[in-house]
Amino acid sequence: MSFSVEVLTLFPEFFDSPLQQSLLRRAIEAGLFDFKATNIRDFSTDKHRTVDDVPYGGGAGMVMKPEPLVGALEDARARLGEIPRVLLTPQGTPLSQELAWSLSEGPGMILLCGHYEGIDERVREGWIDLEVSIGDYVLTGGEPAALVLLDSVVRLIPGVVGNRESLMDESFSCGGLEYPHYTRPRDFRGLGVPEVLLSGHHQKIEEFRREQSLKRTLERRPDLLKRDDE
Ligand code: ADE
Repeated sequence: MSFSVEVLTLFPEFFDSPLQQSLLRRAIEAGLFDFKATNIRDFSTDKHRTVDDVPYGGGAGMVMKPEPLVGALEDARARLGEIPRVLLTPQGTPLSQELAWSLSEGPGMILLCGHYEGIDERVREGWIDLEVSIGDYVLTGGEPAALVLLDSVVRLIPGVVGNRESLMDESFSCGGLEYPHYTRPRDFRGLGVPEVLLSGHHQKIEEFRREQSLKRTLERRPDLLKRDDE
């Protein structure tokens, strides 16, 4: 069964090009995942196709109306079944490799992209299972965040990345940052390659990589080495 991703957005074209590139395109062609971008505006309930309105209580900016959002969410659920409905918002749970792994194990996800000042709070209360943030900064809308989340999840679906072992070794999945990589030429503008990598001694190479990975993590992201109970 393939993994389904449906994005609910006011800008479906935003996803056209990224999904036609590289790994994501190959995953779709191989039938490993299917993707649909739905225009929230198609679910507006008035003749002007309105999707936003002024906030109760006043203030700057507009709020996304509940009817089109819930219409789009219910339509996607009716087609895809009980898959998680995820709202992209700076107020959500920070995206992590662990969260990406856990979503990749499911049957798929519906991604709701907010715009303007936000969405009507009642939609979050009744029709959203998970809220995700991709970092402590504010984007113009949820679309770039949906793309980041979808990319991080889809590459973990079995069969998408050829060598699954490389997924376990990479940064964050192994608990820290990954070791440095080198390829030919052996001498690049006077810069060499660590001797041990040319030795063919697998155990020593593994040790070297483990050391480098730890050193890097200590220098750059010591927070990743702290235990959960600290
Ligand atoms: N929408 C706007 N900013 C965002 C962020 N940092 N993460 C997720 N969704 C967003």
